[in-house]
Amino acid sequence: VSPFLIDTFARRHDYLRISLTERCNLRCFYCMPSEGVELSPNENILTDEEVIRLATLFVRNGVTKIRLTGGEPTVRKNIVDIVGRLNELRQLGLRSIGMTTNGIALRRRLPSLVANGLTHLNISIDTLDPFKFEIMTRRPGHEAVLRSIEMALSIPELHSLKLNIVVVKGLNDTEVLDFIDMTRDKRLSVRFIEFMPFTGNKWDKAKMVPSSELLSRIASRHPKVTRASDALNDTARNYFIPGYNGSFGFISSMSDHFCGSCNRLRLTADGQIKVCLFDAKEISLRDQMRQGASDEELLQTVGYAVRGKNEKHAGMEDIDVVTNRPMILIGGASMKS
Ligand code: GTP
Ligand code: 5AD
Ligand code: SF4
Repeated sequence: VSPFLIDTFARRHDYLRISLTERCNLRCFYCMPSEGVELSPNENILTDEEVIRLATLFVRNGVTKIRLTGGEPTVRKNIVDIVGRLNELRQLGLRSIGMTTNGIALRRRLPSLVANGLTHLNISIDTLDPFKFEIMTRRPGHEAVLRSIEMALSIPELHSLKLNIVVVKGLNDTEVLDFIDMTRDKRLSVRFIEFMPFTGNKWDKAKMVPSSELLSRIASRHPKVTRASDALNDTARNYFIPGYNGSFGFISSMSDHFCGSCNRLRLTADGQIKVCLFDAKEISLRDQMRQGASDEELLQTVGYAVRGKNEKHAGMEDIDVVTNRPMILIGGASMKS
């Protein structure tokens, strides 16, 4: 990667998460406050041209992996086109195009997304119980998500399918073994994610279930559970049950953070570069672009932001949930409004 994408801790940032919208067709409690969020005016959201211009700049400077997020990325107009245009960046070194979605409106669009170059899909599904689904997401739609998952499994061109499960004590933590059962026949990876604190999501340490506890529950049912090797910069620690088609993992961003190997940068839907999920600092590339900045000038700003990246987040008790925006507005989430 170019020196502009290397921070003061020698971390190389070759992974860009682009949020395409602040809107969502769900209202997951962990992602947005119950009163909702104030959306940016439309003119503040990056246009397709602006998204492609910035993506091109990042890929030219060493980004090899792009993941589209939101809000819910499938509610962005022209999503299929945007993926197709990003796919052209493979000539410049882009190797993977991913998307993190809640799966509600995915099924119909999925074949064309894959035809246009989408290779990696993460679908959020916190529960296998339609009733609990409505409690967690504050909306109906469970069946639609399950059907999107089945559709995804039927498309061989999709390189990777992961299910994201935010585990909340007393709500869905009893379903862990049911999710493991899904990995017997299905070629997917289920990932149990620690509940993380954001503005207005009523985070409480007591609602988190340590991965070690989940793993011992899994091991008592499946004594042969085996540690898998992790991909480079992976958020998850991965495992599998011998003989099963799929695998599973734990994303312990709170209890055992992976900041030391962090390779991520984010672009928010309103055009700000954000170097860490838990650092409220954001710098507007949109304003600079609209003032006529050259690519070289934009790159200087990116470099400045990257050099300001902290070594690690503040720790679960000290994360700034006052100025840092809720997940839905940061981008990374998918089950939000
Ligand atoms: P892959 O590209 O498949 O590795 O995706 P991912 O796991 O990075 O992204 P996804 O959008 O599926 O997010 C899943 C979970 O990873 C989130 O709920 C977070 O808990 C965690 N995560 C994603 N991005 C970050 C990040 O930048 N920092 C931290 N600490 N956690 C993150
Ligand atoms: N804690 C953990 N994961 C979260 N996500 C959104 N908000 C939170 C939170 N507070 C997850 C979504 C999606 C991923 C990108 O982030 O479920 O799968
Ligand atoms: Fe990277 Fe910040 Fe997430 Fe740590 S908390 S992994 S530094 S984005």
